[in-house]
Amino acid sequence: TTARITIDRDFRVGDVPRRIFGSFVEHMGRCVYSGIYEPGHPQADERGFRRDVLELVKEMGPTIVRYPGGNFVSGYNWEDGVGPVEQRPTRIDGAWHTIETNAFGLHEFVDWAREADVEVMEAINLGTRGVDAARALVEYANHPGGTAWSDMRRKNGAEEPFDIKLWCLGNELDGPWQIGHKTPDEYGRLAQEAGKAMKLVDPSIELVAVGSSNTGMPTFGSWEHAVLNHAYDEVDYISLHAYYQEHDGDAKSFLATAVDMDYFIESVISTADAVGAQRKTKKRINLSFDEWNVWYQRGLDTDDQPHNVEKSWQTHPRLIEDEYNVTDAVVVGTFLNSLLRHGDRVTVANQAQLVNVIAPIRSEEGGPAWRQSIFWPFARMSQLAHGSILRTAVESDKIDTAKYGDADAVDVSATWDEEAGTVAFFLANRGLDERCDVSVKLGGFTASGISRAEVLSVPEGGDRFTSNTQDAQPVGLTPLDGVSVDGSALTLQLPALSWAVVVVD
Ligand code: AHR
Repeated sequence: TTARITIDRDFRVGDVPRRIFGSFVEHMGRCVYSGIYEPGHPQADERGFRRDVLELVKEMGPTIVRYPGGNFVSGYNWEDGVGPVEQRPTRIDGAWHTIETNAFGLHEFVDWAREADVEVMEAINLGTRGVDAARALVEYANHPGGTAWSDMRRKNGAEEPFDIKLWCLGNELDGPWQIGHKTPDEYGRLAQEAGKAMKLVDPSIELVAVGSSNTGMPTFGSWEHAVLNHAYDEVDYISLHAYYQEHDGDAKSFLATAVDMDYFIESVISTADAVGAQRKTKKRINLSFDEWNVWYQRGLDTDDQPHNVEKSWQTHPRLIEDEYNVTDAVVVGTFLNSLLRHGDRVTVANQAQLVNVIAPIRSEEGGPAWRQSIFWPFARMSQLAHGSILRTAVESDKIDTAKYGDADAVDVSATWDEEAGTVAFFLANRGLDERCDVSVKLGGFTASGISRAEVLSVPEGGDRFTSNTQDAQPVGLTPLDGVSVDGSALTLQLPALSWAVVVVD
């Protein structure tokens, strides 16, 4: 196949919102316990943070990490996770049918986030709790001192405020599975009042209202409209969540699922702006795509699925530890492209999750940590997408898909780092069997060379299902040969089923 891409230095979408390279740590399965935190592991430091996992996190480069859930947060009392560890209560976590020891809580997460050099994005419980617990947590975390809650934080070892800027007003409260599931009006009013009380404690914080859990929710569209009708003045963002997987061997549709992500994003922008127009306000609500990934949602009776009765009431069972292959990595690359292309409005995004639970990084208890295939597009895009997002005009051969009709064979996003004098392209070839010849017109740029050209594709002797395991990691980046640039013309060949990064000087 062939594709022709045009960019121009004058066609900018906006600045790269660095918070779109976010991730997510939930108290679920082995994300916290034996993921980022495992006292007694040979690589653990004195606080129990796994150094091997931390190194991989730093290499992957998330900028912000959402915590502590997820479905977990809708039944969580944040006070259980602070104070002397030996005095913290052990509780039932109804969301995942596990036992929560509370050995890890807010202080530990803030310390870990500092080590990992990431911003904290804190979710509050609006499932079983409300306005009072929400404002108490903001006071505990962000007030300097001299009040009961802030002095408790200081007594618990943190003299300086945590200064958490970004807060989620609950999680997936549109979903019947959620503890404390609400109607749009119930939730909209609660988000409004909790948000108002939180901002009275600290006016510098930013708030994310819960949007739809996916585009298939019966209330998708009407939920956002009703919630923002109540809480427009109090909140700054509306959330989106989406998980995708390959169904019935239909790889073509799976590879084109970013089309649904584009549709989801554009629909939520329209809904939010419609509410804004009705209110005759210039204020714009931005989007926080704070859970997204590939997730193979198998039957609930499968061994590592939540609510497997055999596994109930363990402390950190294996839950949804998906093993990702080459196809998944290419799809994840297209999701990141979709987010980046909409970076003028999607200004926060979090891949779910960071370690072990549907995660780019895996670790074994007492054992090694390693990179899954999906680690690579995230790592390179977080590393290289700086400066301005450029509009990409694409004329591509099409792939006929059962679910999304004709989809471009090539999916792309581009950024211009004016300071470094480089333009970065992030490209996916959705073609399962055919390589794609790509030509790019660099409007307004005179390129002098290529400083990086790497590709992730099917490794020697493998196929599209090849994945990384603790014993071998065959899926990774290799040099992309045959890239050439001459003034304003760039040409390259993408192997069948591949994700690539090309940086032009
Ligand atoms: O990331 C796994 C779960 O998916 C989260 O807890 C929940 O918010 C979503 O349904």
